[in-house]
Amino acid sequence: MSDSALTNNQSASVAREQWSSRLVFILAATGSAVGLGNIWKFPYITGENGGGAFVLIYLLCIASIGIPIMMAEIMLGRRGRQDPVTTMKKLAKESGHSRSWGLLGWMGVIAGFLILSYYSVIAGWAMAYVPRMASGMFSGLEAAGVNSVFSDLVSNPESLIAWHTLFLIMTMVVVARGVRGGLEKAVTYLMPLLFVLLIILIVYAMGTGHFKEGFAYLFNPDFSKITTEGILSAMGHAFFTLSLGMGAIMVYGSYLPPDTSIAKVSIAVAFMDTLVALMAGMIIFPIVFANALEPSSGPGLIFKTLPLAFGGMNYGTLFGTLFFILLVFAAWTSSISLIEPAITWGMKTFQTSRIKTSVISGLLVWFLGLFTVFSFNLTSDFTFSSTISTKYGEFVILKDATAFDFLDYLTSNIMLPLGGLMIAVYAGWLMKKEYSLAELNINRIWFTIWLFLVRFVAPIMVIIVFLNAMGVVAFIRTIMGV
Ligand code: PHE
Repeated sequence: MSDSALTNNQSASVAREQWSSRLVFILAATGSAVGLGNIWKFPYITGENGGGAFVLIYLLCIASIGIPIMMAEIMLGRRGRQDPVTTMKKLAKESGHSRSWGLLGWMGVIAGFLILSYYSVIAGWAMAYVPRMASGMFSGLEAAGVNSVFSDLVSNPESLIAWHTLFLIMTMVVVARGVRGGLEKAVTYLMPLLFVLLIILIVYAMGTGHFKEGFAYLFNPDFSKITTEGILSAMGHAFFTLSLGMGAIMVYGSYLPPDTSIAKVSIAVAFMDTLVALMAGMIIFPIVFANALEPSSGPGLIFKTLPLAFGGMNYGTLFGTLFFILLVFAAWTSSISLIEPAITWGMKTFQTSRIKTSVISGLLVWFLGLFTVFSFNLTSDFTFSSTISTKYGEFVILKDATAFDFLDYLTSNIMLPLGGLMIAVYAGWLMKKEYSLAELNINRIWFTIWLFLVRFVAPIMVIIVFLNAMGVVAFIRTIMGV
């Protein structure tokens, strides 16, 4: 892909440049999908939700909701070839529907801002671990020592702000200059390297003597451990990890050449993304059990476990440093896609340059990020809980949530599934079939399966999970006596 592919004026009259090949699209979309969600978030939310049953629901959501919606989102993007707001308006007009479908694009733009605000802070943690790893400070440390390195970091707002600032500048510079071509090329080498390091870590995890236990924790479903809230987070995470429901994949799809198979690329991206997450899980949990740590210890989980592994292995300093560098790269390619919908939309709406739009967006995200920074120190005691209690049971919406927890909940568990639901409904019910068939270009049988998934399965599952989390399902079951 040429550097200018993502910097050109994206007005309708200009022929839009495209990714140079299917492989480049897969790399870019995988770059967006594989990030902190796989290595940082997946293990800790799995730990918070009791393991196997959560993982199973998550996998089910990837297959039955994630892949079909990814196909739908890429398809809408490729057909619209604009920013998400304009794309939705344009497609709605084309099929004779209300232009208020543009609101879907809007929600995506806002979700991107909110997610990036905390994503950048956490990516800052990963960056902060690079010099810590390189200094060799973890070698031979026990769990308590490793824990205190983490709490020292997060209890220091100045340091978190500094790393957040640095990461955000890195992101916005790439976005502003449109040099993503270079970064995507770098990913061609870095992703396989990340993979190799994950394999080295799995080998380490096998040597902990607790691999079986960790593996069982991940893959033996115990449904007594799953809560309605857990089901909602498993579904929300399926959207988050595949970068769905907010326009990122839609914008990437808009650069996809017309003859590329959307089904194949979607499956490839979802497969790689899931593989990385499961590998991360197979590494983290054996270490957790070998060191008598708490699986449910929250967002700090990888920062408390991985340094233990590196601290105790040959060349651990080298591998550890490399690992956190690669994690930062993975986060970098994701963060770029988080803000891309807002940038393409901002440029078009305000008729301003890419650079100006990037500076303004960056400043906004930076300020929003302070809420997350302070959630771990100054304002960590300002929490709120929200439950709905009915005579059918108590439904926890949020429990002792900090601003970070709230942002994460609002985006992953509500905005992305809602965006995905609207994408599925639009692509499945409202878009003319001749258009979707032409775009997807798959045989009738596969098309019918896809249509069934986006028309019925995905929307119904999202709605049931929402209703379940709000206690409505329990209410109905009680009334019906089932
Ligand atoms: N999928 C990315 C990750 O797992 C996060 C992301 C979400 C990126 C939504 C873009 C859009 O880290």
